[in-house]
Amino acid sequence: MAIPVRKHIPTPVDHLHWMVSDDGSRTLRDLRIDETYHGGCGAVSESIVVYLLNSGAFDRLENNQATRIFELGLGTATNFLLTAAIARRRNVKLYYHAVEPSLLPVSILSQLDLAASVASIAMQGNLEREYPNSSELFTDEYVQALVDLNHDFLTELSNHADSQETQLVLDLGCVTLTLYRERWTSTGAPAACENLSKDRIAGAADMPMHVVYFDAFSPANSPELWTPEVFETVYRCLVPGGVLVTYCVKGDVRRSLAKVGFEVRKTPGPPGGKREVLVATRPMAT
Ligand SMILES: C[S@@+](CC[C@H](N)C(=O)[O-])C[C@H]1O[C@@H](n2cnc3c(N)ncnc32)[C@H](O)[C@@H]1O
Repeated sequence: MAIPVRKHIPTPVDHLHWMVSDDGSRTLRDLRIDETYHGGCGAVSESIVVYLLNSGAFDRLENNQATRIFELGLGTATNFLLTAAIARRRNVKLYYHAVEPSLLPVSILSQLDLAASVASIAMQGNLEREYPNSSELFTDEYVQALVDLNHDFLTELSNHADSQETQLVLDLGCVTLTLYRERWTSTGAPAACENLSKDRIAGAADMPMHVVYFDAFSPANSPELWTPEVFETVYRCLVPGGVLVTYCVKGDVRRSLAKVGFEVRKTPGPPGGKREVLVATRPMAT
């Protein structure tokens, strides 16, 4: 089978290149570790299926339910923007917390071109055919919400460009993005992230989480993140019935998730992408 030759586009940072994935959307490749931020078969398709749809976040927001999401690895903000645009379109409250030790500069984030990718995927129609419930994502109104949100996000980030704070809070209308600019380690969550799991704030307005997008680099490149210790912290920050989703189905990862109490199942991946991806649910009775 012919291996697709993917187009690479340089960025202002030497070790990062944009790569055009098979659905036409962009993802970053980190040349130092030879890993991309999304699967090469379709960055936007992966984000929609593995994160928005499999986690139930899309359904919650579509049903006007205020939602709290935690993401490990904000990266290019693709998962964040695609999710938050639904909240903005529906005018539903979204509290999105994300850890990112290497926040990308606005000069790179502004090259993402997400709305154009979604519009083009909408034209192709493949994803909508396979996931008819997701048709809202392929409307002109949603694409416009994405354009507006992206503008506000980049403006807010630019306003914080000189900030040395480890925690940034971006006010994006009905969406609040809390960014923890810290590295999560196997020996414990960073100070700012500990509040995700502390019981004493469990009743606070933006805790605990309905959904976790676990989007770290692969276990080979980020072994410190795929451990029972990290999964335990994540488990405790979820509401009973809350869901963790990830692209990785490795046996070790599934066993570590099960060990801390998650009910783990594999489910089909995005069209043309990984055959299976993971959904882990915190049981209702805990
Ligand atoms: C697969 S990428 C995330 C892709 C992202 N969700 C998106 O939509 O573009 C993994 C991210 O994890 C971040 N990361 C790496 N080591 C980390 C650590 N120890 N703690 C938290 N995040 C880490 C990287 O900087 C990178 O942005």
